[in-house]
Amino acid sequence: MHLFLHKPSYFLLLFLILLILHYNGSNGSMVPAVIVFGDSVVDTGNNNNLETIFKVNYPPYGQDFSGGQPTGRFSNGKVPSDFIVEELGVKDVLPPYLDPNLKIEDLVTGVNFASGGGGYDPLTSELASVISLDGQIELFKEYMEKVKSMAGEETVNTILSKGLFIVATGSNDVTNTYFNNPLRSYHFDFDSYTRLMVNSASSFLQDLYNLGARRIGVFSVPPIGCLPSQRTLKGGTQRECAEKNNELATLFNTKLSMEINYLNHNLPFAKMVYVDAYYLPLDIIQNPTKYGFDVANIGCCGTGTIEVAFLCKYTCTNVSQYVFWDSFHFTENAYRIIAHDFLNKNKNLIM
Ligand SMILES: *[C@@H]1O[C@H](CO)[C@@H](O)[C@H](O)[C@H]1NC(C)=O
Repeated sequence: MHLFLHKPSYFLLLFLILLILHYNGSNGSMVPAVIVFGDSVVDTGNNNNLETIFKVNYPPYGQDFSGGQPTGRFSNGKVPSDFIVEELGVKDVLPPYLDPNLKIEDLVTGVNFASGGGGYDPLTSELASVISLDGQIELFKEYMEKVKSMAGEETVNTILSKGLFIVATGSNDVTNTYFNNPLRSYHFDFDSYTRLMVNSASSFLQDLYNLGARRIGVFSVPPIGCLPSQRTLKGGTQRECAEKNNELATLFNTKLSMEINYLNHNLPFAKMVYVDAYYLPLDIIQNPTKYGFDVANIGCCGTGTIEVAFLCKYTCTNVSQYVFWDSFHFTENAYRIIAHDFLNKNKNLIM
């Protein structure tokens, strides 16, 4: 054996065998399952099952989804959680955990716990009557029990150790809770509010780690001052980006990135990655034609300036020209670019 290993061809063979064993997950992908937590950027329909105004399971939402179905996704088609499982070859779309028709094969390849309208600040999900991050963790525990009883403990362990976990939230804390609610803006300045958000993010990530999750990608807050709704509210006659929103977002992102670095170095075998979701969307918004878009300062639905959810009654004629679907959410074409960039830049998270 010792002698053989000195031959380069044996090295190569051994390497190839290890590579094949490594890549050969049950679904032929290098990632056996994808589990997502967060808000409307990644929710694929959990809110359909809740009593909240933060739901979009009616037209024109989903007009470009397969079959033109409104599914509860906050866009015209797929959202980043779908593009991630699709590009990884896990499955076509990521089902919401609260879908009552899930089968065992849906569960073992991953589900989605995200709930539109939520955030890191517990007050955010409370005001929106949606599932808090603690609530999402509780559902995840229930999910693990289900998979254990249906597919065995080994399967649960594989999902935990090799599965890709995504966390994407924080926008609503800034736009809805901080800037629109005196409970927060009177009692917290930018520094203390971003600290509150990061503390919540950190304890969520530690909970997830303590349950066994290892590969975790955490998305930053996007340039939410440039959402059409915020331009309308605070951008003046020129509809500029709302600077204060972007300032709070970047301050939070800097602190989040430092905290994730810290956790990653201090939790054994953790692979936690801060995923920048600020600068690429900002570039798309500032240089839309570079990415094949024509319109970036209003959304496709309604007048494009303020409508979201049930206020979206009619749409633009060609959604492909738009970066934004409604006044808060990106179109599926913009989400595809963002999700692809994430996977492209974070291969270490999935190998
Ligand atoms: C819609 O817009 C896209 C992007 O600008 C363009 O490529 C396409 O030809 C347009 N479709 C129609 C029907 O005008």
